Amino acid sequence: MILDMQDISKAFGSVQALKGVSLHVGQGEVHGILGENGAGKTTLMNILAGTFPPDSGHIFLNGEEVSNMTPMKAMNLKIRFIHQELNLCNDLKVYENMFLGEELTKKKFIVDKKTQIQRAQAVLDSMKAPIDANANVDGLETAQKQLVEIARALLFQSELIIMDEPTTALNNQEIENLFSIMRELKGQGVSFIYISHKMPELFAICDKYTVLRDGEFIETGRFRDIDVHRATELLIGKVHIDRNIKEGQPSFVEDSVVMAVKGLRGQAFHDVTFDLYKNEILFITGLQGSGTNELAMALFGASPLTAGEIMLHGQALHGRTIKQFMRNGVGMVPRNRKERGILPDLSIRDNTSLAYFTVKHKKLFISDKEESERFERNKLKMDIRSGSQSNPITSLSGGNQQKVIIGKWLEIDADVYIMDNPTQGIDVGTKFAIYELIDDMAKSGKSIIVFSNEYPEIHQIADRCLIMYKGRISGILNRTELSEVKVMEYSTGSIQGEST
Ligand SMILES: Nc1ncnc2c1ncn2[C@@H]1O[C@H](COP(=O)(O)OP(=O)(O)OP(=O)(O)O)[C@@H](O)[C@H]1O
Ligand SMILES: [Mg+2]
Repeated sequence: MILDMQDISKAFGSVQALKGVSLHVGQGEVHGILGENGAGKTTLMNILAGTFPPDSGHIFLNGEEVSNMTPMKAMNLKIRFIHQELNLCNDLKVYENMFLGEELTKKKFIVDKKTQIQRAQAVLDSMKAPIDANANVDGLETAQKQLVEIARALLFQSELIIMDEPTTALNNQEIENLFSIMRELKGQGVSFIYISHKMPELFAICDKYTVLRDGEFIETGRFRDIDVHRATELLIGKVHIDRNIKEGQPSFVEDSVVMAVKGLRGQAFHDVTFDLYKNEILFITGLQGSGTNELAMALFGASPLTAGEIMLHGQALHGRTIKQFMRNGVGMVPRNRKERGILPDLSIRDNTSLAYFTVKHKKLFISDKEESERFERNKLKMDIRSGSQSNPITSLSGGNQQKVIIGKWLEIDADVYIMDNPTQGIDVGTKFAIYELIDDMAKSGKSIIVFSNEYPEIHQIADRCLIMYKGRISGILNRTELSEVKVMEYSTGSIQGEST
């Protein structure tokens, strides 16, 4: 399919999300769209997929203009959209989700369950995704849900597949599997639009790029003609200076333990023992299945322990509720925003205040003025791009929702922060600002545990990095000992035993 979008504009109230944007995608091409949070990427795709109409502009498919695009029309034109935020019905089974609205029938009226299950399973198998087509969706991990979203798009023969940050919950192997399917389909002439904030992915899979900035078209070209540095400059619109926030030695004091974790055992981890010091930024990393996800929850009192202790300032915390963890000065930025982070029915402002209400709010009534000031303060600090603060949080772009969530937790002024993949969906420029923010928090006396699988991020600000393998700590590296190769070796179990 050859796609031409010309001069597309779209406003949401006072926010001009797109200003005369054009996009050209050729047949069998993977086209990357680059842009900061709120640049208009998802909005442009929503217009292409008929979610809502543009205010002005034209869409041509294979040279013919398509007007009044609707989701149904887009589907019939063999356009598929994998959404940035998961879009599955938790009450349905995997295969039912995949065929939703396009059920196969036999004898006209009867749903052909058997064929649906077979076809759904065949696609999942081709993706090497270990998911049962007949399983219930609500029991799946987020990564598996993301794979089901992708499988749904691959179910029917399509000509253009839009992927809006498809890999945020996936591990490297799953991403590689996805890329090999994309390459195969590309060979058959399928075109892709690929949106991601992860530069290595864009450079690995995309042929061409289009850059959007503040709703405007900036440039289009071939990835082979630019490097990561140039791509970053194009999207942030200014010279980007790569620098390390933290240099040299770790900056915490070894004798001031804030949190002590001893012999912790839970659902997918055991014998986890470590100290967290005042002013420390401790990273915890590990491959999918290494127990890091479960450990993150346990450190916040959000999943049960079968053995061990979590001590905060010398006081045992385990067996307590999340609320008690919060009252004792622990804050958490959870992973997977849509499922764990936001309350979609509430406004941007209320979402910002939620954690504060739980532990800090002492008055009988809620003051609109205070809430409003709280949001404005965060908007400035976190550079949140939003329309009115009374709009629902879902009106924000993905990355801006993430900034609200981080801001919300900073409001409780905890001593210890557990941040699980805090830069998910955050653009490259802003990521840097978030690293600086975390570094400043540590300097001001807080202790932070960051769960992350991105080495560049670990390298930027970690004082120490703890690596998990098969549910145990396989190594702890000091800042001065850190290297990507070493982290990889401990993560894959090729080096065993702890180092300090
Ligand atoms: N339904 C809506 N109501 C109000 N404003 C909206 C709505 N959808 C998008 N916007 C605004 O339009 C702008 C562009 O948002 P969009 O979601 O397209 O950004 P994006 O480039 O996808 O960003 P991200 O990388 O963070 O996902 C943002 O300022 C956003 O707040
Ligand atoms: Mg988006």
